[in-house]
Amino acid sequence: MLTEWVLAFVSGQSANGGMLKVLFLGDIVGKPGRSAIARRLQQIRQELGLHAVIANGENSAAGAGITAAIAIELKACGVDLITLGDHCWDQRGFDSEIETLPHVCRPANMPVQCPGAQYLIHECGGIRLGVITLLGFQFMKVRAHDPFYWWQENWQRIRSGADLWIVEIHAEATSEKISLGWMLDGQVAAVVGTHTHVPTADATILPRGTAYLTDLGMTGPYASVLGRSVQASVARFLDGMPRRLEVAEGDVRICGALMDLDTGRGCALSIERFEERL
Ligand SMILES: [Fe+2]
Ligand SMILES: [Fe+2]
Repeated sequence: MLTEWVLAFVSGQSANGGMLKVLFLGDIVGKPGRSAIARRLQQIRQELGLHAVIANGENSAAGAGITAAIAIELKACGVDLITLGDHCWDQRGFDSEIETLPHVCRPANMPVQCPGAQYLIHECGGIRLGVITLLGFQFMKVRAHDPFYWWQENWQRIRSGADLWIVEIHAEATSEKISLGWMLDGQVAAVVGTHTHVPTADATILPRGTAYLTDLGMTGPYASVLGRSVQASVARFLDGMPRRLEVAEGDVRICGALMDLDTGRGCALSIERFEERL
């Protein structure tokens, strides 16, 4: 039965009633994060039999933002879709580059005047996987619409564009992330959080079938403060003086969530934290 389905999937036929195995990786931080992806992701794809890999790339360029060259490099390493967050525009010129990158989207609830796609649709063997990022409203310094109201006003407009959806909530407050997860339970296949760079241990399937995890953690150096130099971060807390926070180097890990999604019902069959130390 499984073999039949795999053959149907590989041959591009409908996978209705089948399963999509998806890895969603948390914020890729600087060169250490990119090197880890380059070294391991293609092999991880094969080992786990992944149909799609999604990663947040908002810190992939020296810890702040992303460039077109990096987005192309990540795709070549096995990242199918790249999402972004509040650091979306940190690299000069990316606001014009984003329009040339069909595998990259900016958060959907940014002002409508912002460039870039609001969400991405990825075709996997006849199944359309939709991926969308919402920026949180609490304690975030970037201009965006309230994610709860954005969703209520836009879900009916976008929902038929994909067979199943993964929503990324890029936010600071755990209460905001968890509340959005509950609100979207039964509407989408998964709601996963990013932005804090600290993985949480609450992976679960909510009662109506939506996979949920508050934060995927980062793909980058964990001997750090959220990916940056320990020494500089501690010093900044001591004296409050502005200083350059270099990307750290030690204890690099690839972190995220591994999900089995039900392509027929558009919900999740399983979710578990993914973590690999290099
Ligand atoms: Fe962020
Ligand atoms: Fe980040």
